[in-house]
Amino acid sequence: ALKIAIIGAGSTYTPELMEGIIKRKDNLPLTELVLMDIDARKLEIVGGLCERMVQAAGMNCKVVKTMELDEALQGASFVLGQIRVGKLPARVLDEKIPLKYDLIGQETCGIGGFFKAMRTIPVMLDIAKRMEQLCPDAWLINFSNPAGIITEAILNHTNVKMLGLCNVPYNMYKSIRETLQLPNADLTYVGLNHLSWITAIEQDGKDYLKDALEMGLNSEAMKNIPSSGFSQELVQLVGAIPSSYMEYYYFKDKKLKLLKDSEQSRGEKCMDIEEELLGIYSNAELHEKPELLASRGGANYSEVAISLVDAIYNDKQEVHVVNLLNGGALDFMEHNDAIEVAAVIGKDGAKPLVIEDFDNRHIIDYMRMVKAYERETVAAAVEGSEEAAMRALMMNPLVGDYNTALACFRELKEAHKEYLPQF
Ligand code: G6P
Ligand code: MN
Ligand code: MN
Repeated sequence: ALKIAIIGAGSTYTPELMEGIIKRKDNLPLTELVLMDIDARKLEIVGGLCERMVQAAGMNCKVVKTMELDEALQGASFVLGQIRVGKLPARVLDEKIPLKYDLIGQETCGIGGFFKAMRTIPVMLDIAKRMEQLCPDAWLINFSNPAGIITEAILNHTNVKMLGLCNVPYNMYKSIRETLQLPNADLTYVGLNHLSWITAIEQDGKDYLKDALEMGLNSEAMKNIPSSGFSQELVQLVGAIPSSYMEYYYFKDKKLKLLKDSEQSRGEKCMDIEEELLGIYSNAELHEKPELLASRGGANYSEVAISLVDAIYNDKQEVHVVNLLNGGALDFMEHNDAIEVAAVIGKDGAKPLVIEDFDNRHIIDYMRMVKAYERETVAAAVEGSEEAAMRALMMNPLVGDYNTALACFRELKEAHKEYLPQF
């Protein structure tokens, strides 16, 4: 029996995931798919479409919709985590309140991402602790954001087997290989989630990074980031190709202005898209993923998530970029730091590829600084320590200033209070 549970299945992204499950149905002989959400309306609408998709694909698989976590977890082999605590209205607060303090308002970076972590970590730890009881051998595959910080929390505070996921690495590989017309290029990916770089591009024994930097190569921007692109000068001095999330750091001032000048925050825009999608999903004739979903930032998530499940279930020993504990893969990070790197995936889990003699000082120092922020963030979330929270924010390159951080922290803490049990 192969049971997959999707926690937060009322997300309008779920049909994307379903597409991946259907595409790999021959490799993944699913006997039960449980869709769990605490939002009855969205569970009904999104779940309804998922049921029709499974049926249209001729899969012999039981589909269960439930609002009970334990029912979803019981006997599962894979648990896919895609929760958004406080839903999109909470995201909008993370995006808009910081702007009043001249701080970047973004759902995963800066102080907005910090509060998303405060809301999400307690719930994810609960889910993981229920898994320890109900399905101790199951894999937790999480893409709830901030995915790197959630990985850091779960792998250091529970005993579940877990990997954190993001579509950025996949999309970077894809766009770089396409632009350079090197379909089999071997890329080196180094970083933390939403703080990452491509540091080598090799094919047939030749290194193409230098050429790429000389031409000022960018990787494809994500749909959710109002993108400017990096100049040739910038990529050359960094000595690597940054992910588009690095724009929040390298172009902090310009990004802040852009965010302040835009009429709608990304979360508000997503609320509009979500309602429109729910309208489309409600159509009982529809049994496939609609085109409109492509306007969200989650492109290729299904491929990333379900190919990973496939690699574990079928012991494929394939390389995927995931979030996991460093072990000794990067000698400049601590062993129990969650990092985002390439790892060999099989039935016994993920083994990060060791990157030897890594010498890009800029990247090493940036990762260490942001990891220090992430570590304190987890401490703040778990212990409810405001002191740890302030230490975290003072270490975050997008925040830094103590007085500004404190004032904004207080306002966000008040705004989110129903979702912050630890404070
Ligand atoms: C990218 C990121 C995700 C993020 C998403 C947001 O895919 O990797 O971590 O959740 O964009 O997209 P949205 O459409 O919600 O703004
Ligand atoms: Mn991501
Ligand atoms: Mn309190």
